[in-house]
Amino acid sequence: MEVVEFESWILKNLNVDLSAYKPAQLHRRIKSLMNRIGVDNYVAYTELIKRDEAEQKRFLNYITINVTEFFRNPQLFFELQKKIKEELLVNNRNLKIWSAACSQGAEPYSLAMIMKEISPHGRHEIIATDIDEPILDRAKEGKYAYSEIKNISEELLIKYFKKKNEEYYIEPIIKNMVAFHKHDLILDDYFKNMDLIVCRNVVIYFNSSIKNEIYKKFHSALKKGGLLFVGATESIYNYKELGLDKVGTFIYRKI
Ligand SMILES: C[S@@+](CC[C@H](N)C(=O)[O-])C[C@H]1O[C@@H](n2cnc3c(N)ncnc32)[C@H](O)[C@@H]1O
Repeated sequence: MEVVEFESWILKNLNVDLSAYKPAQLHRRIKSLMNRIGVDNYVAYTELIKRDEAEQKRFLNYITINVTEFFRNPQLFFELQKKIKEELLVNNRNLKIWSAACSQGAEPYSLAMIMKEISPHGRHEIIATDIDEPILDRAKEGKYAYSEIKNISEELLIKYFKKKNEEYYIEPIIKNMVAFHKHDLILDDYFKNMDLIVCRNVVIYFNSSIKNEIYKKFHSALKKGGLLFVGATESIYNYKELGLDKVGTFIYRKI
């Protein structure tokens, strides 16, 4: 079995489109996982995944790199907060926000804290999605280690977290602002009428045609004037072609 056949097998059996990922990086990761498990060919590996649900989960977990933190790149979040105030809240008190590929929830909960701080009376809808179900369960639990919350100011930490046994639990007032759903950016339909889409540190794993498709779909998912906030290594060079304006370091606005 060649790697392309392995990819079709995964698509058919686990419904994950590996052809969307950058091949060199992906193949290196799969090989390294197989090495760790002690299998040296794709046939043996598919058989293992087929009969062993834990290995199936391990594979999916490994492919979907979950690294994240609250207010990742704090300066950029600060800039986003300013744009939300200046561009979105002036026209609308109730914003629809989508945190796509949200991992264990640090990103959507950061957005919820921002909204609570700058617009406490607005009825904001924050949808947070990821392809990885176990990570969404973690997100819903809202329990974090110190390493994950290090960017949160003392003021917000005191206001919005409870500390118990060296772990930090997000308060219901923030937790209840976010609705988590499973969503695959490659295979699923997109939401509509969004004021703000935050999608960071996931398209770097995808090839350029998939990345472009994703940005086109984000464009359709945004309201006119809506904002798209991307990761700190994910500048969109063809933003004009996509119908976007660049309004911040990593922030784009739908024209
Ligand atoms: C590195 S994390 C980024 C988390 C957060 N956005 C941030 O910037 O800190 C990447 C996330 O993308 C998710 N992911 C990978 N492929 C995906 C796909 N096709 N659709 C939706 N989410 C995906 C992974 O499960 C993982 O949680």
